[in-house]
Amino acid sequence: MTSTFISLIDRRLNKLIENSEEVLPQAMRYSLLSGGKRLRAQLVLAAAETLGGTVRDALDPACAIEMIHAFSLIHDDLPCIDNDDIRRGRPTLHRAFSEGIALLAGDALLSEAFLVIARSNHLSDRQIIRLTTLLAKRVGKEGMMGGQTIDILSEGQTISLDLLVQMDQKKTGDLFACSLEFGAIIANAAPSIEEHLHQAGLHLGLAYQIRDDLEDATTAISDNAKQNKPTFTTLLGPEPTRKFLLQTLEKLNHHLSFLPSGAPMIKGFIDPLFDTKIDP
Ligand code: IPE
Ligand code: IPE
Ligand code: MG
Ligand code: MG
Repeated sequence: MTSTFISLIDRRLNKLIENSEEVLPQAMRYSLLSGGKRLRAQLVLAAAETLGGTVRDALDPACAIEMIHAFSLIHDDLPCIDNDDIRRGRPTLHRAFSEGIALLAGDALLSEAFLVIARSNHLSDRQIIRLTTLLAKRVGKEGMMGGQTIDILSEGQTISLDLLVQMDQKKTGDLFACSLEFGAIIANAAPSIEEHLHQAGLHLGLAYQIRDDLEDATTAISDNAKQNKPTFTTLLGPEPTRKFLLQTLEKLNHHLSFLPSGAPMIKGFIDPLFDTKIDP
């Protein structure tokens, strides 16, 4: 199931950004088609199917989410944010092209994401308005960009557990939430289901970042930006962090339990991210 979804998503993404000789589309394709796990796009498809929608209707919104994800990673890697040289095993876009082109390719992927949804033939006008409005909200100042702001302002600082949770829920959780909520909108699910998926996505993003912190704590980090940033393991210590991760996963599962049959397809994508990696 996973590989079918991934190849559908990759083939559609490859079509959506034309393979021209020009620099900007080349730069966009360099980052977009560089072999990410496609976790968020797969969650859109899985949530839509779980709630009675179709993969056909969900595919373009799923690709739009991957464009947003690629934009966020390109800008996150820039020297003015995390200053990273490697992403997905290759030079980051600003290293392979230039800082200016990376900035612009990120901007172009952000606006392309909205176009892809607006142009979809498989969605009603009302669904297009709901999807684009939600996307703007989850990416913008109250969402991912708000989380990234907390992230850069907290460098070198000690912050409260509350703020650390807020940072991870916004910078990572909001796009996971948006992916699951997209499935609900595409399948015309009830508002209560959408709210459970919103909460599930926030807890998934938080759990994803806590897992990253636990992994980083057991490996030598060469990355300067990461060394100076507050993490769960530095704030709580490794054992309480593990406990906090388990509590977060319980909350995530609680919200998924409101979906039909407990949403086995969605869990099929989420569970493998955690069960082998919690104990270092
Ligand atoms: C990495 O996301 C950035 C975070 C928000 C933690 P992924 O781990 O989903 O990265 P790709 O898309 O598979 O490369
Ligand atoms: C990824 O966050 C960027 C966004 C969530 C927008 P991080 O900076 O923590 O993740 P990596 O380590 O670069 O993938
Ligand atoms: Mg970052
Ligand atoms: Mg980073």
